[in-house]
Amino acid sequence: MSEPVAPPQEKTFRKFSHQQGAEYAQHRRDYHPKLYQTLVDHHTSTGGQFDTLLDVGCGPGLAARALAPHFRHVIGIDPSEGMLNSAIELGGESASSEPIPDGSVDLLVVSTAAHWFNMPLFWARAAQVLKPGGTVALWTNGSIIRLDDYMEPGNRHNRELYVNMQLPWTVPDPVTEFDKESFVRKEWGTDTPVSDLEKVMATTSPVARWREAHPDAANTEEDITRTMRREIEKAMHDAGVEEGKELLSGTAAAVMLIVKKKA
Ligand SMILES: C[S@@+](CC[C@H](N)C(=O)[O-])C[C@H]1O[C@@H](n2cnc3c(N)ncnc32)[C@H](O)[C@@H]1O
Repeated sequence: MSEPVAPPQEKTFRKFSHQQGAEYAQHRRDYHPKLYQTLVDHHTSTGGQFDTLLDVGCGPGLAARALAPHFRHVIGIDPSEGMLNSAIELGGESASSEPIPDGSVDLLVVSTAAHWFNMPLFWARAAQVLKPGGTVALWTNGSIIRLDDYMEPGNRHNRELYVNMQLPWTVPDPVTEFDKESFVRKEWGTDTPVSDLEKVMATTSPVARWREAHPDAANTEEDITRTMRREIEKAMHDAGVEEGKELLSGTAAAVMLIVKKKA
């Protein structure tokens, strides 16, 4: 068997403080209700059960909380203590390092995190923990951030909307438990008011790295998120958009990839 080459480990969220986790939870926008409904409908119509949901790279638990009403058990896992602290503050019960039993998960979701994963290892482990007929859904809102000096390979993969995502049948050792015929790719375009954009941009890892490199400018008028917002507003006003009506159409394109484990 060939050994998968591990991508560089994500480092920014991993070292998030308690406060950074709380700020992320406060400002990161939740995903559109239609995204969740599309996923629940797909899982139902393809024979999925609703006992256990696993959210990998859960951060403060946006997806876990949104989907929780459909499931009896919900598990969120994440390597960042700052993120997990926020998840617990927002109602997560406890921290535990118990392994997830094989064959126990009905729906495994990864929201805006799979671009940091070692996908060959991910698919192999996902095949173990899922029940036969279980579903994997990976999605992201993409990103409009263009801070090239602060972009990691994972950020670029995200910005490209997962066009090069490794799938169970494209990894070096294909994971044959998944059904290639079941693969679905769905795309959306969402509109963002420019006033929200600044706070949403502040939840991204390139901005966290920019702020680390420019501590005196962070959270001031010189902050990168503030100057980007001002530039966008100016371009819009120059183009005749009225003040207060600045809306970026189709900015945050979202994509969701769904794969079923064979029944
Ligand atoms: C942009 S945040 C997304 C958090 C949450 N899923 C959401 O939708 O808001 C990316 C998350 O992936 C986590 N992460 C990074 N590398 C990971 C890995 N190898 N395995 C699991 N989670 C990872 C980070 O700690 C961070 O919480």
